[in-house]
Amino acid sequence: MKRSHYCAELNKEHANEKVFLQAWVNRRRDLGGLIFIDLRDKSGLIQVVIEPDQTEAFKIAETIRSEYVVELSGTVRLRPDSQKTDRMATGDIEILVTSIEILNESKTPPFLLDGSIDASAVSEDLRLKYRYLDLRRNDAAAVLHTRHKISKAIWDYLDAKGFTQIETPLLTLSTPEGARDYVVPSRLEPGQFYALPQSPQLFKQMLMMAGFDKYFQIARCFRDEDLRADRQPDFTQLDIEMSFIDEEDIIELNEGLMQHVVKVANNIELSLPFPRITYAQAMSRYGSDKPDTRFGLELSQISNIFTNTDFRGFSAVLENKGQVNALILNAELAKNISRKGLDKLEKHAKTHGAKAMAWLKRTEDGFSGPIAKFLNEAEISKLIELSPNIGDIILIVADKAKVSQTALGAVRLKLGKDLELIDESLYNFLWVVDFPLLEENDDGSTTYMHHPFTLPKKEDIERIESDPFSVNAYAYDFVLNGNEIGGGSLRIHRPDIQERMLKALGFSKEDAERKFGFLLEALSYGAPPHGGIAWGLDRLVMLLTKASSIREVIAFPKNQRGADPLTGAPGLLEAEQLEELHLEIKNHD
Ligand code: AMO
Repeated sequence: MKRSHYCAELNKEHANEKVFLQAWVNRRRDLGGLIFIDLRDKSGLIQVVIEPDQTEAFKIAETIRSEYVVELSGTVRLRPDSQKTDRMATGDIEILVTSIEILNESKTPPFLLDGSIDASAVSEDLRLKYRYLDLRRNDAAAVLHTRHKISKAIWDYLDAKGFTQIETPLLTLSTPEGARDYVVPSRLEPGQFYALPQSPQLFKQMLMMAGFDKYFQIARCFRDEDLRADRQPDFTQLDIEMSFIDEEDIIELNEGLMQHVVKVANNIELSLPFPRITYAQAMSRYGSDKPDTRFGLELSQISNIFTNTDFRGFSAVLENKGQVNALILNAELAKNISRKGLDKLEKHAKTHGAKAMAWLKRTEDGFSGPIAKFLNEAEISKLIELSPNIGDIILIVADKAKVSQTALGAVRLKLGKDLELIDESLYNFLWVVDFPLLEENDDGSTTYMHHPFTLPKKEDIERIESDPFSVNAYAYDFVLNGNEIGGGSLRIHRPDIQERMLKALGFSKEDAERKFGFLLEALSYGAPPHGGIAWGLDRLVMLLTKASSIREVIAFPKNQRGADPLTGAPGLLEAEQLEELHLEIKNHD
């Protein structure tokens, strides 16, 4: 390489050394006959000075603007004490320039790159349209350097444990992971489509059947679903599969791997093992299958207080096997919540599925609030046990168990944020285990909770036909600070059980054969017991770097509408391409 150093590699030990740098102009300042340039490369910044007696260099420096690419020679010197700064890591030195050359000019960039971005002044779409400029900012690039370190740490750890990295196809058949597929039309087979994989699930299982035993892949996955701050249509998983193991082996491997990753990325030593709770406990205590355990404020089930209630809102729910759940805020917390605040919390509960949220406020002589008039003596005395202090508030949602828990879980999280109950310095990893195998859709049909290849618990399997929703699975989610960062399961490895599972999901024999025939066949050739997991790599990087959205940790992400402002994707096809692909666009404007 021609250059002698990266900018921010230099320090006072290099004083009086001659250097040759090639970098971008972060900023140029003319100061009473001296020209100062903050020079930037991927390592950071350094200040260079051009004095007027370097006539040639000075003349060139006068024409230099932000984002020009330059190369220069000079000598490192210590700055006088009065000019030292901690604005940059190299703030106690500068380069006295002897010659400078412009390698390329730059138009004025559409936003300033010389500091952190002011989100209110620069829209995200503008940053994404000029993502190659956005990434020149050292802050923006830093997360991608950390992401690289994390990927390398994963490779190193799994390689040392005997895992083989194997790539699986991107043009394939649909893999059911709960989202819509992105599809690719076939030119050679008119009217037929490939699907981009929602995950490498079936291929990794077939690698186990092929005898690979320990597989991993940092795999691209594609899901057409509603976008959120932690979702991308085109995202990356760390995908892992192992044979002849049980749930414990997978959890143990993943804990060791996570400990290594967090040590490399954040220099934090996590203590193992991570806590585990069952899905049922997670829902009843936190109203979520990915609980944020950085703060308490757990839910209470108070159905038994209302077994003889006069309040129709509760009795109707209990008659239908629903639950009355509550969040109890002590007076210390409750004093921060106004009447208006309570209305907002109810609105929040409603946007998360509740039909209503009642509240009771503990007063001198009982309770106030919209449902206080329905309370009888016995109920009041039991509720007083739960909220002994004047000013305590009880928030109540009565509904089907899951609806009531989920709505209060959302209120709990809002209170955690609004009342600043969360210690942001914590990394609370957690396993949620024993997920149900199946779930009921709103329309009464049956769906899978993880995917159709998840192994039912041995002791539950006989109920898959008679009482399907009571069957639990060897399925587990990996949670960090209230985010699902991974999920996996042991898999069905016997064709007869796989067939029963597909039947429970409502697939006819023909449908099962058409969609999963290749899997059923593969299972019939001596498939080993196996299982695995996938981490959401982007999500994990986002949380470890404390990035504000998943888009910050992806080099070229899609925006919130699933579009790429840089390339303009998705785009139209030429008429000839459509013709070749045997496609015709209807209602095209
Ligand atoms: P699952 O569907 O739970 O499991 O996905 C695994 C993890 O991937 C992340 N993730 C996403 N990240 C960003 N954008 C998205 N749209 C997105 N969707 C999911 C989450 C999630 O925990 N094949 C199974 C794994 C297995 O059973 O081994 C699977 O894909 O962090």
